[in-house]
Amino acid sequence: MNDNVRGRYPPGMGRGRGGIGIGVGGMNANQNFQPRNFQQQQQQYVQREVMQNAYHQQQERQQQQQQQMHQQMQQQQQWLRRNQVGGTKESSVDEVDKMVQSEAIDRSSQDWKAKLKLPPPDSRYRTEDVTATKGNEFEDYFLKRELLMGIYEKGFERPSPIQEESIPIALTGSDILARAKNGTGKTAAFCIPALEKIDQDNNVIQVVILVPTRELALQTSQVCKELAKHLKIQVMVTTGGTSLRDDIMRLYQPVHLLVGTPGRILDLAKKGVCILKDCSMLIMDEADKLLSPEFQPSIEQLIRFLPSNRQILMYSATFPVTVKDFKDRYLQKPYVINLMDELTLKGITQYYAFVEERQKVHCLNTLFSKLQINQSIIFCNSVNRVELLAKKITELGYSCFYIHAKMLQDHRNRVFHDFRNGACRNLVCTDLFTRGIDIQAVNVVINFDFPKNSETYLHRVGRSGRFGHLGLAVNLITYEDRFNLYKIEQELGTEIKQIPPHIDQAIYCR
Ligand SMILES: Nc1ncnc2c1ncn2[C@@H]1O[C@H](COP(=O)(O)OP(=O)(O)OP(=O)(O)O)[C@@H](O)[C@H]1O
Ligand SMILES: [Mg+2]
Repeated sequence: MNDNVRGRYPPGMGRGRGGIGIGVGGMNANQNFQPRNFQQQQQQYVQREVMQNAYHQQQERQQQQQQQMHQQMQQQQQWLRRNQVGGTKESSVDEVDKMVQSEAIDRSSQDWKAKLKLPPPDSRYRTEDVTATKGNEFEDYFLKRELLMGIYEKGFERPSPIQEESIPIALTGSDILARAKNGTGKTAAFCIPALEKIDQDNNVIQVVILVPTRELALQTSQVCKELAKHLKIQVMVTTGGTSLRDDIMRLYQPVHLLVGTPGRILDLAKKGVCILKDCSMLIMDEADKLLSPEFQPSIEQLIRFLPSNRQILMYSATFPVTVKDFKDRYLQKPYVINLMDELTLKGITQYYAFVEERQKVHCLNTLFSKLQINQSIIFCNSVNRVELLAKKITELGYSCFYIHAKMLQDHRNRVFHDFRNGACRNLVCTDLFTRGIDIQAVNVVINFDFPKNSETYLHRVGRSGRFGHLGLAVNLITYEDRFNLYKIEQELGTEIKQIPPHIDQAIYCR
């Protein structure tokens, strides 16, 4: 590991600078970032230092082997051509055999790829947020073949920028604090190394993934299961709002990877049914949210159940300065990744409409009639307003679901499942769905109520424009919201324009 502090941290993000300072909370966030290429140079330098020698040696060995094989084949072909006329019959048969054998080895290593059940390719336009990569391939990381199969069958062709940065470092065992834009593939950036590191013959919990909401836990466990489709890794999801007894029974069966919300996992650990002494990897997704006062005490208690040599990986699109204290106390020489030289997604166009409170529903009605909505998520600032608005939208004759944390979990699961499957075009919700929820078909986000802070704004609008696709965010702004609008624009270094009379479909529907 490289202990060079200056090398480890991009400017403005590390020790000696009075804070990790990569937040959007209350600061002009743009001051904290460096252009990507500068950062890349640093990260590449650090990466060279950090990567284990074994990794490089393995890479070199494989390249040499490939070159040798290639040379051998060329020599054989030249030899055969030379001997087509003059060579003895026995020796040319021998050489042909060798060539056929070497070609067979080559073919068998490619055979598994031919047998993959790939989903249809996604031909939609993608922005640089996911296409500006270094050009790595998933095979460069020497992952288990079964894991590679799961990755390709999920439709992932090449690692995204955050995956390129995070996967090799996580595999070295280093703690990580990673920041990357919404929808750019953070989930796989931690799931892939986690699945690679799990020993499936050792029936103990080896990895815990913590997330702040039950729906996100379900979604993340599903991603793990899909990626691990060809592995024999047992994934369990556990959250509040479900039967504790069922979870206890399930834990008597083998579990290698546990995904869940902090409260329930802590409960199970305290009861002695969830054994974490062999859990060498703790992943905190939406880490800044997990460090809010609502969760932080549970997280700190949970860490006490882990072995001292555990690896902690933290991911989010937002890291307010408040995360620094936790990072200093619990992470050991963390490798810091920051892929956010700008904060908002390139593919999302943001507009505001200035309205009076009583005009909001009418305005929404106009938006519904004018916009080309594939699926939309509409955010309100309270449970009560979610229910009232959902009723209004239905009365207007548009199809609509709603979801918030005061609903029964079974009902929540049904709504989440059905909306994801496209059973309904519009979903009204509270901030329950602000973080991490990944529904590819959502191309429009509407802030019916404007959020109070820039983190919430960033995560909300990030529900559209997933994986570099295009999206539209429309904010209904009242007189009271005007200062917030200004503050959020400043903090994110972005411009939210006034909504024009006509919106070109090409900016959010390609
Ligand atoms: N390498 C890849 N190739 C193609 N698609 C990918 C790849 N990695 C991830 N995706 C897809 O991109 C979408 C967004 O990924 P993910 O939910 O992990 O983003 P995220 O960075 O965690 O976003 P958020 O900050 O909103 O939680 C998912 O639908 C996922 O399947
Ligand atoms: Mg995520």
